[in-house]
Amino acid sequence: MTHLDRLHANWPATILVADDEESVRSTLRHALEGAGYYVIDASTGSRAVAIGERERPDLFILDISMPDADGVEICRAIKSDPITRLTPVIHLTGQTDRAERLRALDAGSDEFVTKPFDVEELLIRVRSLLRTKHLTDHLVSAEAVLVALSRTVEARDNYTEKHLHRVADRSVEVARRMGMSEREIESVRLGGLYHDLGKIAVPDRVLHKPSTLDRAEYALVRRHPEAGAEIVRPLRAFDGPEAAVLHHHERFDGTGYPYGLRGEEIPLAARIVAVADSFDAMTTDRPYRLALRAEDALQRLDDGREEQWDPLVVDVFVTQYVGSGEGREVAEGL
Ligand SMILES: [Fe+2]
Repeated sequence: MTHLDRLHANWPATILVADDEESVRSTLRHALEGAGYYVIDASTGSRAVAIGERERPDLFILDISMPDADGVEICRAIKSDPITRLTPVIHLTGQTDRAERLRALDAGSDEFVTKPFDVEELLIRVRSLLRTKHLTDHLVSAEAVLVALSRTVEARDNYTEKHLHRVADRSVEVARRMGMSEREIESVRLGGLYHDLGKIAVPDRVLHKPSTLDRAEYALVRRHPEAGAEIVRPLRAFDGPEAAVLHHHERFDGTGYPYGLRGEEIPLAARIVAVADSFDAMTTDRPYRLALRAEDALQRLDDGREEQWDPLVVDVFVTQYVGSGEGREVAEGL
């Protein structure tokens, strides 16, 4: 037995089975309970949705056609809700339903089991999906821990948690407009959340020093991208946030840190987070100065294109900001 199998054995996963046929439900219940799982069953689609929301099962087994609901649409709803999107879904289908299978795949279905089903095969699929789910749960909790840690860092630096989320959200919006893939967008989002995590390695006396930093102190501050990258490096299951964290202080003209990368040598995720982070810093009150007005901050971004920031990212950011609800007043004032 491997370490993972042992973990799995000690974990009574909850499985929601939805099928309008009583015989299918009882066969599944019998097989799954026999394998040690906790089973909840639903005879209708609407009951499945209600139970799913309340119980948050670890896996769904859904019939595709139930009299009151479409199992594919239920799956689509599960996969588009941020809380349940990583929960696996197995669909029960007939042997010949190719079109239905394609529709289910498109909705994010993870597996199919053909009726009449082979119990052994079903249990193997269940086991394998739950194993992945278990690991994903660990990753998701790793994300929660890192967000909590980032929040602490921001608080030490006199920012609020909202700073992190604004940087992440605006970075995601730019990444989307620039046509990045969903995986890349996820790495941009995490990069936005964790960009300054490495400041945990910068002592308070330096972070809070009211006067100018000396050379050694400045060197400590400049270490924060590398310190942050070391913390997030184990998150390898994603297209990790490491690149954005490591390079968010590089400058487009090559005079930034830690590596002095220039132009497109700097990973795009980092070029995006750099703009979103700088804008948010400029428009937030700091201990040593008041916030700039949004239009002045946008002007600074424009003045720093080519030198500090990627001009294309600045353009997308400015267009997006001016077009957004918060930017509308700014646009009227321009
Ligand atoms: Fe930073």
